[in-house]
Amino acid sequence: MFSLRTGFCVLHLVFLWASTLANEKETSFQLQQHNVPMSVDVINLKPTDNSNKHNNWPGRYLPDRSNGENYGSISKIVTENEDFAVYSAPKQKKNMVTMGSMDINSTCDDGKTNLTRDWDGSVYNYTCMQSQFLPVTDIEPLLERDLVPKYYVANHVCMKESISYNHDIPSFGPHRPAWARYGEYTFLPKQRWLHNLEHGAVVMLYHPCTHPVMIVRMQAALKACLFRHIITPYTLVPEDRPIVLVTWGNRLYMNDVDTKLATDFIKKYANHAKETTARDGQYDHLLIQPAELISPDDVNICPPPHKRKNRI
Ligand SMILES: *[C@@H]1O[C@H](CO)[C@@H](O)[C@H](O)[C@H]1NC(C)=O
Ligand SMILES: *[C@@H]1O[C@H](CO)[C@@H](O)[C@H](O)[C@H]1NC(C)=O
Ligand SMILES: *[C@@H]1O[C@H](CO)[C@@H](O)[C@H](O)[C@H]1NC(C)=O
Repeated sequence: MFSLRTGFCVLHLVFLWASTLANEKETSFQLQQHNVPMSVDVINLKPTDNSNKHNNWPGRYLPDRSNGENYGSISKIVTENEDFAVYSAPKQKKNMVTMGSMDINSTCDDGKTNLTRDWDGSVYNYTCMQSQFLPVTDIEPLLERDLVPKYYVANHVCMKESISYNHDIPSFGPHRPAWARYGEYTFLPKQRWLHNLEHGAVVMLYHPCTHPVMIVRMQAALKACLFRHIITPYTLVPEDRPIVLVTWGNRLYMNDVDTKLATDFIKKYANHAKETTARDGQYDHLLIQPAELISPDDVNICPPPHKRKNRI
């Protein structure tokens, strides 16, 4: 009797060990990298360049989809060299006014006025109107990188003007001066979260019909990684890869939740943006749950549980 029990125990342990191994298997994914053609619209502001170019910036940054140019076909394998927007880890500058925070005011954008310019508040943007999507297993996750030129400067646009983008999931571009408070939203327009991306955030977009188990697993992993995260439903994600993690210049499309791949992505690309700052935002319309501090200034991204600042 005793040995039978021990036998079961051992079997159980072997099973646990095997399933752990299975979970830790090397993750694979497809990679697509897109050069953002600098000559078209992207400003190349060298530190010595005092020209007025960026004041004339019309707010579009890629060739129009309609004119037949497909920047997606221009791809190039690069090593992470100097030419593209892989910024080094943050150097905290004390007393530095975040660029453009002077236009956070009630005549330009206070994060409260004329919000319907970016989103009409429709429930269809955050409600599942069809059956839930189950994980798709016969495809791989897809990592898409927009190779943003290092000297690209994104404009701040007041609420008097609309901002349009050439991609359903822009990974960089002009945005609103008042960025979003970090955390989970009923719905947050892209004109806001793009600004958070510029500060080094990770944005999790999910289709409202994504199976709740997938949403909960990805949310839990992201929330435990860093303070600077945004979570919002978004209907313009692909249905076969309904969860997308976005950082400045990068998109990881997931057909199922692979927490190892996701945390690798977050560790690699979070906090490597144009103006990294951990300051919380001003916009909090429909914020459901504010983000928690994980490590001061997010220096320690996706730390093991015992190293989290917010542990109880
Ligand atoms: C508000 O922001 C706009 C746009 O940057 C600026 O022109 C204006 O001077 C600001 N107003 C105040 C009162 O700071
Ligand atoms: C809301 O959903 C509609 C219909 O799918 C879409 O056209 C629109 O772009 C969405 N709005 C936002 C702000 O995502
Ligand atoms: C809000 O919209 C109204 C009407 O279009 C406009 O007159 C006003 O200047 C706008 N205010 C802001 C802060 O965008």
